[in-house]
Amino acid sequence: MEEQVSKILKNALQEIEQAKELKILEDVKVKYLGKKGELTALLKMMGGLSNEERPKMGSLVNSAKSEIEEKLEVKEMSLQSEELAKKLESERIDVTLPATKARRGSKHPLNRVIEEIEDLFVSMGYDVVSGPELETDEYCFERLNLPKGHPARDMQDSFYISPEYLLRTQTSAVQARTMMANKEKTPIRVIVPGKTFRREDDATHSHQFNQVEGLVVDENISFADLKGTLEIFMKHMLGENTELRFRPSYFPFTEPSYEVDVSCFKCGGKGCNLCKQTGWIELLGAGIVHPNVLKMNGYDPEKYSGFAFGTGLDRLAMFKYGITDIRLLYGNDIRFLTQFDRKD
Ligand code: DAH
Repeated sequence: MEEQVSKILKNALQEIEQAKELKILEDVKVKYLGKKGELTALLKMMGGLSNEERPKMGSLVNSAKSEIEEKLEVKEMSLQSEELAKKLESERIDVTLPATKARRGSKHPLNRVIEEIEDLFVSMGYDVVSGPELETDEYCFERLNLPKGHPARDMQDSFYISPEYLLRTQTSAVQARTMMANKEKTPIRVIVPGKTFRREDDATHSHQFNQVEGLVVDENISFADLKGTLEIFMKHMLGENTELRFRPSYFPFTEPSYEVDVSCFKCGGKGCNLCKQTGWIELLGAGIVHPNVLKMNGYDPEKYSGFAFGTGLDRLAMFKYGITDIRLLYGNDIRFLTQFDRKD
């Protein structure tokens, strides 16, 4: 039995010495010291020995056991640090390599225009408000003095979802919403940028487009306020030399109503292909809020007056950036969008 112990010890130490990985070392440990291990088997046989032999063999086996355990521990530590060093080596990062370039997005030209307008009007004391894109016939038309069957509805061929609901054709719908929400509280000074929808589709019209609406209601609001405001607005967007021209027009929710032209910023009013040789570009609808609209939405027209205007943001962005097809604004083509990535 003594021989057996020293043989097991010798083999165990040799195998420990040769183990190249922690996993193999673990196997060695199980092979000798595990429940069914070789040394454990010897310990189990002790019961069969005589009383004299038992202590002697016991101490022999135990000292072999502790020697194996000790060696296992030492080897385990050295293998662990070896493996860690290998891992560190393989995961080493070369901090001097050039970094992968982060792709920077750029602001959509429409959002640039919207933000510019918002900043300007907020600086003049306006609030920026929004309304639902799925609108009721009542707010999109009826409360703006366009009762059912009114011929002016034809100008805005629409997407109806049901007889009552449609995709809003104009941000003017939010005029009525704002007045109804404030009821006689003044002043109202809001702009409403947002999406609008009509059944159209060609190079200058899209089924979805963007408008910005403006509404001011207070006591003693006059045409002079409208004119001054639009002048500031257009000069800010298109340049200080921009001039405005008010032409009489018709909108059901304003009286009087105007189409507002701006002097062509490409040719300065001399006439070119952009302004079709006229020197002017039609850009806005505007007017003095119709007394019926004030009345229908909770304001006494004898006491209050207001002005309103609306313009297409797509057209404005197209002029500002020289874009010739409105559909480019909605195509999500990276090559188009990154062209506006300039510091301005
Ligand atoms: N909502 C009109 C349109 O879509 C534009 C407009 C005209 C808005 C006159 C106004 C306004 O507020 O006073 O064509």
